[in-house]
Amino acid sequence: MQNEFVLQIKDVCKSFSGVTVLQNVSLNIRPGTVHSLMGENGAGKSTLMKCLFGIYRQDAGEFHLQGQQYNFTDPKHALENGVSMVHQELNQVTKRTIIDNIWLGRYPTKRGFVDEKKMFKDTNELFQRLNIHLDPRTRLDKLSVSQRQMVEIAKAVSYDAKVIVLDEPTSSLTENEVNLLFDIIKVLKSAGVGVIYISHKMDEIFEISDEVTILRDGQYIGTEHIDNLTMDKIVNMMVGRDLEERFPPRVNIPGDVHMSIKNLTTKFPPVVHNVNFDLRRGEILGVAGLVGAGRTEMLEAIFGTRTKLSGEVYIDGSLIDNSTPHKAINNHFALLTEERRETGIYPVADITFNSTIANVEAYKNRVHWLSDSKMKHDTDTQIKNMRIKTPHRREKIRALSGGNQQKVIIGRWLLTNPDILLLDEPTRGIDVGAKFEIYQLIINLAKSGKSVIMVSSEMPELLGVTNRILVMSNGYMSGIVDTEKTTQAEIFTLATKYLNNNKEVEV
Ligand SMILES: Nc1ncnc2c1ncn2[C@@H]1O[C@H](COP(=O)(O)OP(=O)(O)OP(=O)(O)O)[C@@H](O)[C@H]1O
Ligand SMILES: [Mg+2]
Repeated sequence: MQNEFVLQIKDVCKSFSGVTVLQNVSLNIRPGTVHSLMGENGAGKSTLMKCLFGIYRQDAGEFHLQGQQYNFTDPKHALENGVSMVHQELNQVTKRTIIDNIWLGRYPTKRGFVDEKKMFKDTNELFQRLNIHLDPRTRLDKLSVSQRQMVEIAKAVSYDAKVIVLDEPTSSLTENEVNLLFDIIKVLKSAGVGVIYISHKMDEIFEISDEVTILRDGQYIGTEHIDNLTMDKIVNMMVGRDLEERFPPRVNIPGDVHMSIKNLTTKFPPVVHNVNFDLRRGEILGVAGLVGAGRTEMLEAIFGTRTKLSGEVYIDGSLIDNSTPHKAINNHFALLTEERRETGIYPVADITFNSTIANVEAYKNRVHWLSDSKMKHDTDTQIKNMRIKTPHRREKIRALSGGNQQKVIIGRWLLTNPDILLLDEPTRGIDVGAKFEIYQLIINLAKSGKSVIMVSSEMPELLGVTNRILVMSNGYMSGIVDTEKTTQAEIFTLATKYLNNNKEVEV
């Protein structure tokens, strides 16, 4: 008899050094469906999947694959038996080629030698099937983060698994790549694969899921068919109450011009061309645009991490030198990068270190010793203000859930007490409840006289939080609009204004 479920998870419990992370979680996955797993940052989604995949050993509970009980001892064991996984954190050997990364640990051999030709051919066929246009011989450090993510997805698919886990696979993908991924998922569904999908993006959940299961604080809350769910209902199940408002009131009032950018052009592609604008004191200026429009590059050029061909930064009318990040920090700028998990984290250090590292100077006392008590105090304040889910500040940051790691990094930059904050996708990977807290934080900072530039791909967030929105299109600034007077349609028109039709977004 055909099993109704391809995977059954029964009463799984897991704790780390006495802290319960999963409590009797059960879940049934039907073949040929997408089953989404939702819950706040730290709810236990990734941990449950890591138990399934043999990375952690659960304290109690069982996994049944097509009716048969398994306890995978390591990921290799899981892969050999039809379970594959795309992790929230990329874990690749960047100095090796795409081929090496895909076939690592399972090289096909011919008379005892690794069969390079077959690997190349197989990779090409795989990419063709999935519509991915990359040369398999490329080294991973030559790829963008999103391309590396696509390689990881292709690898997971290559195992012909019965169950595929995708843990926040789209957090760094471009729109085109997300569409491509959804096409791949449809193919997997029609082949009878059970897909477990983890994401904080509501629109994705409604587009791709058949069923949704919600976890809260390590406990199973419920499973519903997507047709029986609304966004409000999901949020209520996730946080245990209704979130009345998605955005806090905009209580900041922009004042005089704080910073001016003149003739900003970057040296290396993707190039930002001749950008000019003013940022007012206490203003939140959003930056909209399609992926590849140069939004990140513009922030990097202002902060000195990207070489300028021309361009000046003025503060209160005086020219300043922001040619290196060090100088920018001394000028009271802070940049929260888009790829926090790639570039922002010291994984084996604890939360205190990760929170305070950007601000070490401020913790030196008169004899140049670091003031331990102040660092501890500030870290505890951040943990409390941002509701970072952790037993204590001495926890290693890599033991935090992905979203909570991000909160630590955001907190780090806030502790440097910057006057100008440059935020690149500040709420990416952050759950709906915590997003509200981050918006609140940004608005309060602006209210206290700080000025903020915020790049975001989420239109509702730009419309809900900012005072004005600067729109970038293909490296050019195509307009600045008042948030209260604009519409989504106007912003979209501006974002596509200088689009060169020949230039397809690369995958
Ligand atoms: N190796 C570990 N050691 C100690 N605690 C851990 C470890 N891994 C996870 N945890 C804790 O378990 C809890 C659940 O984490 P998990 O990563 O499963 O959350 P998540 O639901 O995936 O969240 P996110 O949406 O932020 O990715 C968190 O409080 C986290 O700190
Ligand atoms: Mg996670």
